[in-house]
Formats: sequence, structure tokens, C-alpha cells
Amino acid sequence: MPPRKILVTAALPYANGHIHIGHLVEYIQTDIWVRFQRLRGHECVFVCADDTHGTAVMIRARQEHRGEAALIADMREAHLRDFAGFDIEFDNYSSTNSDENRVLCGEIWASLRAAGLIVEQEVTQLFDVQAGTFLADRFVKGTCPRCGAPDQYGDNCEKCNATYSPAELQDPVSTLTGSKPELRSASHLFVRIESLHAFLTEWTQTGGHLQTEVANSLKGHFLGEPLRDWDISRPAPYFGFEIPDSPGNYWYVWFDAPIGYIASLKEWCSRTGQTFDDWWPRGDDAAVRGAEIHHFIGKDITYFHTLFWPAMLHSAGFKLPDRVHIHGFLTVGGEKMSKSKGTFVRAATYLEHLDATYLRYYYASKLTPKLDDIDLNLEEFVNKVNSDLVGKLVNLASRTARFIEQTGLSATYPDDGGLFANSAGESENIAAAFDAGDFNGAMRIIMGLADRANKYVDEQAPWNLKKDAARAAELQNVCTVALNLFRQLAVYLAPVLPRLASQAGDLFNRPIRRWSEVEEPLTGLPVRPFRHMLTRVEPARVQAMISASTEDTSLGDTPTNAPPADGPEALAAEPLVATCTIDDFVKVDLRVARVVAAEDVPDSNKLLRLTLSLGGDDRRQVFAGIKGVYRPDDLRGRLVICCANLAPRKMKFGVSEGMVLAAGAGGKEIYVLAPDSGAKPGQRVH
Ligand code: 2FM
Ligand code: ZN
Repeated sequence: MPPRKILVTAALPYANGHIHIGHLVEYIQTDIWVRFQRLRGHECVFVCADDTHGTAVMIRARQEHRGEAALIADMREAHLRDFAGFDIEFDNYSSTNSDENRVLCGEIWASLRAAGLIVEQEVTQLFDVQAGTFLADRFVKGTCPRCGAPDQYGDNCEKCNATYSPAELQDPVSTLTGSKPELRSASHLFVRIESLHAFLTEWTQTGGHLQTEVANSLKGHFLGEPLRDWDISRPAPYFGFEIPDSPGNYWYVWFDAPIGYIASLKEWCSRTGQTFDDWWPRGDDAAVRGAEIHHFIGKDITYFHTLFWPAMLHSAGFKLPDRVHIHGFLTVGGEKMSKSKGTFVRAATYLEHLDATYLRYYYASKLTPKLDDIDLNLEEFVNKVNSDLVGKLVNLASRTARFIEQTGLSATYPDDGGLFANSAGESENIAAAFDAGDFNGAMRIIMGLADRANKYVDEQAPWNLKKDAARAAELQNVCTVALNLFRQLAVYLAPVLPRLASQAGDLFNRPIRRWSEVEEPLTGLPVRPFRHMLTRVEPARVQAMISASTEDTSLGDTPTNAPPADGPEALAAEPLVATCTIDDFVKVDLRVARVVAAEDVPDSNKLLRLTLSLGGDDRRQVFAGIKGVYRPDDLRGRLVICCANLAPRKMKFGVSEGMVLAAGAGGKEIYVLAPDSGAKPGQRVH
């Protein structure tokens, strides 16, 4: 088969938050698939970018009192660090806030206009006067107009599942400022996507572009009725690209985000001297030219990629994707990731405690081409990694390599009873499973081979042969077989475990470069001293990671890897106080307080329990997130400043009746504020 030319993308992560283990399902999945294709000798390019635009980034930047540019620059650095930590390697990592992207958006927009697909309509939305912005559905809370449940979002009710428009919500409150929003209307631009209904039916239902379950569900839902116009613009203020022929309006983030795929590829082409048109062609013959285009995404963004995106590409004459690979969400212990349970684990936190290799393997062992959710069961994680990677794989080498450090591999490959040939014979089955995204199937075959290899080593017991000098040749042969079987497995697993593949390559000074290396055993080569490859997962390290991820969320968990919480207009974590009047300020009762008792909260990795005296009998219990920064002993007797009229908060460890003021960025950088000596407990801070 001639080498294929393949372009691969993973969904562009939002620049409003950090990468977490939920995101990693997709990036690891895609990286494995890309590495597999390359190992098979195909030309495969993997591009991605930060998804920078939208309300959430704008709001977060405001909260952090800085510009969007600074926020997205920092987030990009953090994302790249996290990806590198998990061996996720992109050929190009761009930003949707790039010039290339702006130009491409303009071109695609012009095509939609020319095709007469853009229409203008008035949209009435809630407007937060204090924040000066229209409120996306997720930034409004109120009472459900159907069942009367309080505290529901602007688009649907979690109690009765009703869907409605924010304008119908009773007693709406802006989650940005806490103020009552008012209804205002503005003119929006829409894509009349119904004009492309026939094309979309054809594209989604034929040609194998989608998993069958996705194609069927689209047919049963969206495509079964007229497609609704797609609201593609947002009025200022909005962080994004202003629409050239509609000043004051911006392209909605979901317009410019997928175009970011093309822009990132374009950037890669310019950087590497490749011809863009050879990769993502445009024009009448686009379908039969260029690279295969593969998008990997989560199921929450299916309709953007299977309806809107093909519609945009089709209208602009760009080549359409060959396949959209859609995966399910991550659950942990069968439940949604949760901050209060510590299962909402950031990529960076994971890496502080555990080896990336473990998660790559675990996810690989779980991934299938189905849309089912993937469950990270921590006990299974420990067992699987220890039993498969350490017990079956690394042990093959660690039990045998040292016996032939002196002699090297046998000059000719010994009789192994057909083990090597049998394992090589599985090559196409394993490859087919990888190619189809059935990594679980691939891992099962590979581990079956590892079992047979280990049985061989157990039976031959090289440690016994070693004791008998007369059996040195036999020992060399047995170890030659074992190490070749090990290397063969390392080739099969190279897409999943690049570090281990590189270590296996080092052992014989023969880097693993091609899948076909499974076909020929190595002989007559020196064997380098065995260097440690992978340690067992200690359950205590997993526990430490969970503890480090446990946050007090007495205000409730922020939903995480399910839509629309992670969406472009996700709920801001904290209310935004745009301005604070003197009347607002005097409401805050700040008091001098003395720490009369301070103790550790053993089950919390952040909190100390303080007893504060605010003068007279006024004593308060306050939980302060300063553990590891201050020692309880150093706090006792100190004066601090306490917010005394904060509503008591019920926390996991008890009720907190105030808050101690501190400065600093958090983490280890926390400085508890203290009044000058002479201040008395109970005095008001002005
Ligand atoms: O859902 C998300 O995380 C989006 N940021 C994905 C965008 S993918 C693409 F279309 F750009
Ligand atoms: Zn309801």
C-alpha cells in the first residue's frame, strides 16, 4: 500500500482553563493514532491550537484585571507544558487569535455571503448593565418558568429538563455581577443552514465519515426536521474577530474555532515549506486531492463538526473531512469528575504525582471506536498498570537482559517454538485495531502475546540456567528470545508508550522506527546494561494526587467535562464585580482579630482550622486555605484581619464563620495580612 497522506486534528482546547484528565482522553487518543500512522510509514501531520475567543475568556481576563492577550499567552504556555508532559506532540500548535485565522475566516465568510446563506435577525437577550455585556445562557440563573425550581440556568432546568430562552426565566440574575439583567435586542447574523440540508444528509449518511451511531442519531434528530438558522455573530463587547462587513459585531467563537484547524495547518505549511493546497485543497476537484482529513472530538461538540463545519467547508469549496472520530466523556469511578471529590485532576497535578506513561496506557486500554463514556477506575488503573506494564512487559526485559550483557544476542535466532513468528503474525490484526480506533482491542491482543512470552521465560527459567556454566549457550538463546519478544511488544506499543519504545531501542542501540520491525528478530547485537524502565504505581501516590485535587466546593461543583459547562460560554467560576461603590464597600465588615487557636485539618491538604477572637466573647471558627504555607504554631497569638460578616459556610470539616484576608497568587505564595501592633481585636478596619 502506498503511504497515505493524513492530516489530523484534535479539538482546540479553550484558553479559559487548564487541561485536565478529561481533556487528555482525546489528546492521548489522537496522539496514539498519529504515532501509529507514522510508525506504519504514512505521512501524518497533527495540528492543533488554543481556542481563544468568546465570552468566557473575556470575563476571565476581566476578573484577573488584565487583557485577553496576556491571559491567552499564559494559558497557551500552560497547555503546551501539559501536553509535552504527556508526550503529546503536535506538528503545529497555533492560536485562533492569529492573522492566518482572521484571513481565512474572512474568506469563508465571503463564500457564505456569496451563496446567500447569511441572514440578519433581531435577537432579544438579557443584558447585564453593570458588566456592560449581553449574557449568554450560562451566565444567567433564575427560577424555572415551568416547574418553579430556583437557581436554574438560562437555557434549561436541571429539575424538570424544560428548555427555554433566558428571557422566559423568572427572577433572572446575572452570575457575573449578581445584578438583575434587562431585556435588550440586537441584530445578529445567522447562517441559513437549511439550504444545505440535502448536502448534509448525504455527507453524514454516506461515505463512512461518521461512526454509525452518530450518523443515525443525526438522522433521527437534527436532520429529521428543518435545520434551524445558526446564530453566528455576537454584538460588542466580545473577544474575537470583528466581522468586516458588519462593524460592531463579532464572529461567534464557534465560527472561527474550526477554521483554526485550517489556519494551524497553513502555519505549519509556511514553516516547513509545504504546499497548503496539497494538504487541504479548495476548488471543484478538492474531494479527490489533498490529504485525508481526520478530526478527533468529544461527543459534546458533534453537531458543530458534523453539521456546521461541513456546511462551512462545502460553501467555501474546501475539501471535507474524511472522518470525524467521536469519543465519549471521562468519568472517574463511574461518576462525573468532581472538584470536591478530588477527581477533577488537572494535567499538571497528575504529573506532579504520577508517570504520564501510566495514563497513556490506561486510556489506550479503554478506548474503542464507540461513543461510550470511558471510566477511570483508580483501583483498576493501579492494577492494570502494575500487572500489564510492569508485570508483563518491563519484566520480560528486566528478568533476562542482565544475563546476556556480556555475550550479547545469539548470532542466529534460536528455535522459540514459533513464538516470535506467531507474534509477528498478529501484526495486521493489531494494526487494523489501531487504525479503527479500537485501542482496547489492540491492547488485548498485545497483552495476550506478552502472557505467552512470560510463560516461555517462566518455563525456561534463565535464572536457573545461569547457575550452570555448561548451559551458557542455552541461557543466551533463551534471553535472545525473551528480549526479541520484548522488543516486538515495544514496537506494537510504541504509539502508546513512546518512552518505553525509546528505552527498548536503547537496549540494543537500535531505535524503533517502523512497524515492520516486528517481522525480523535482532541477532548478534550487543545488549546494553539494563536501565530501569518503569516503576510500579503506588496507590499512595494516586491518593496524594486526589488529595491535591480536592477543593472545597461548598458552593457546588463546577461541572466539568460535560457540555455545556466547558463550552465557550461556560459559567464563570466567581461572580465578577465590575465596579464597587462605596456603599458596596462599607457592607464588608472587616475586623482586627487575634488567632487564639490554630490547628491542622488532617483530611485536607489546604486547610487550617483557626479560632479567632474578635474581642469580648466574639469567637469565630474560620477555615483558612493556608496549610503548607503557615505552621499552626506560628499563627497562634497573631493579629489578622477577618471579614466578619460573611455568611457562615458549611464546609466538609465544619462551619466557617468568616475569612482571613491574605495577599498573593495562591499556592505557596500567600501572605496573611496583619494590622500594625497596637490594633485591638474587634476594631473595625476602615
Ligand atoms: O469544546 C471545546 O473545547 C472547543 N474549544 C473545541 C473547539 S474545536 C474546533 F472546532 F475548533
Ligand atoms: Zn423546571
